[in-house]
Parts: sequence; structure tokens; C-alpha cells
Amino acid sequence: MSNSSEAELLHTFKGISFTTRSSPELLKSLDNFDAREDDILLVSYPKSGTHWLAGVITKLYNTQVTITSPIEFGDISQLEELNKLSSKRIIPTHLDYNMLPPNFKNKKCKMIYISRNPKDTAVSMFHYYRDNPNLPTVDTWTAFFDLFLKGNVVCGSWFDHFLSWEEHEGEKNILFLFYEDMKKDLPKVVKKITLFLSLNVSDNDIQDICKKSSFSEMKNDTEKENNDPSHTVCALTSNRKLIFRKGAVGDWKNYFTPKQNIRFQEVFNEKMKLSKM
Ligand code: A3P
Repeated sequence: MSNSSEAELLHTFKGISFTTRSSPELLKSLDNFDAREDDILLVSYPKSGTHWLAGVITKLYNTQVTITSPIEFGDISQLEELNKLSSKRIIPTHLDYNMLPPNFKNKKCKMIYISRNPKDTAVSMFHYYRDNPNLPTVDTWTAFFDLFLKGNVVCGSWFDHFLSWEEHEGEKNILFLFYEDMKKDLPKVVKKITLFLSLNVSDNDIQDICKKSSFSEMKNDTEKENNDPSHTVCALTSNRKLIFRKGAVGDWKNYFTPKQNIRFQEVFNEKMKLSKM
């Protein structure tokens, strides 16, 4: 990774790397954000299936809902922009639990955290780094693997992010979901989401929503630009075409060497020793 581009594209706030798309002034002001009780937060570490989940959730409502831009994206005017939006707001974020504006916690807003096997997340993020001009250049998978394991990537360490949220998993207003469960049985996960959000959606409608949310349908929609091409729920790009790459479970096996796999497992076991995962 070249240092000059890294310095131009990234900055550190409270020990975590952000792109310059998240201004330091905005990050400093997040604590004052005025949450509403009916806000829904869509939380993820990058490349965990955020757009997929957002696509599903918006289809569940037959009333007006707005998927906003990520709360940490933009300059200081972002908070004012979000303030102007009418309810109901679905607000995406890649923030660590500790950086979340306290108002969301005090008002017990519903939050959905989506997680994914960190090995697949790392591979997905590697491609994102390569294709996304908002992120520093990374030359090889080997170089990226080291950065990911050390948490020297945008949004910081996968382990710290996951653990900060997992600590709150038992709270009634937080729902934990896994990308792999969505791949295995999407209707079952969607049913779980409807119960959590107290939505009344028939089984037929759930089946229909799942069909429309398949990887190929969502990718096609983006290519046909049926969706707003400049609207992403990831604070790291505005280009929806960068999001839909492969959509598979286990792609890490095509990238990890046996040695990398052992090293990853060692770090995983150490970092996650207090985790229920
Ligand atoms: P890959 O790079 O492994 O293909 P995010 O939305 O958090 O940025 O996550 C992007 C990842 O989710 C990408 O993974 C993308 O392909 C995958 N994804 C997006 N929509 C999907 C869908 N409908 N089904 C399965 N995977 C999907």
C-alpha cells in the first residue's frame, strides 16, 4: 500500500481508520445526534451483506421508509440533512458500538447487526480495496491479509467491531444476523426480521421478497440502474456496481494459503476467546 495515497484517503479517529468521506468534524459531532425512537439502525462491518439486508428490509414495508446515507458519511451538514428527513428512517452505519451516538442507545432504537465469516469478509474487502478509488491501493492479497489481521484497514479490526456489538447481543432492541444464515435459508431469516420489527408480512410475500433479493436479481437491478445507482448504504463508496461481486460463502478457500489459514485461526482463537461465536 502506498503511504501517500493512504495519507490522502484515510484518517484516524478514536484509534479507528475512516476514509476522508467521513469528516473528523462529523465524527466529533456524532454524540449530539438526535435519534428518534422509531429509527432503525442497520449495522455492519464493511462487506458483511449490508446492501443485501437493506434490500430485504425496504421491501418489507408498505409504508414510506427512507434508507438514509450512513450516519458517519459526509461532512458536518450530514446531521442536519438526516434531521430534515421524515420518519421512518433506516440508518446504516459501520460504527463500532462504542462510537454509536448515545441517543440511539438511550432511546432503545431497534438495531440489526449483520455479521459474516471474517475470512470471507477479508476476501470481499480485498476486492473492494482494489476496485474502490476511495480506498488506498493494495497490491497483493498477501499484503491485504496482514493489514486485515492487524486491523489496519478502514473501520478497524473486524474482531473489535464484532466484539463491541456482541457484548450487547442479549439486549431486546438488538437483532444479530449472519450472512451465512441468509444464504442457507433466507425466508427463515426474513421471518425473524419481521417478528423483530413487528411487521405483518404473509409467507407468500416473504417468498416473493426473497426471490427479488437474490444475488442475481439485485446485481441485475443495479446494472439496469433500477435502483438509484448513487445510493449505497456503505460509507466507503457511492458506486453500487462495486457491491455485487460474487455473493458466495467460502470464497476464502480460493485465497487463503494453508499457512494463512493457520495464522488466521490462531488470531481468531485468541481474539475471540470470550466470544460466544
Ligand atoms: P462478495 O464480495 O463476497 O461478493 P456489503 O453490502 O456489506 O458491502 O457486502 C457486500 C457483499 O455482500 C459482497 O460479497 C456482495 O456480493 C454480497 N451480496 C450483496 N448482495 C447479495 C445478495 N443478494 N446475496 C448474496 N450476497 C450478496
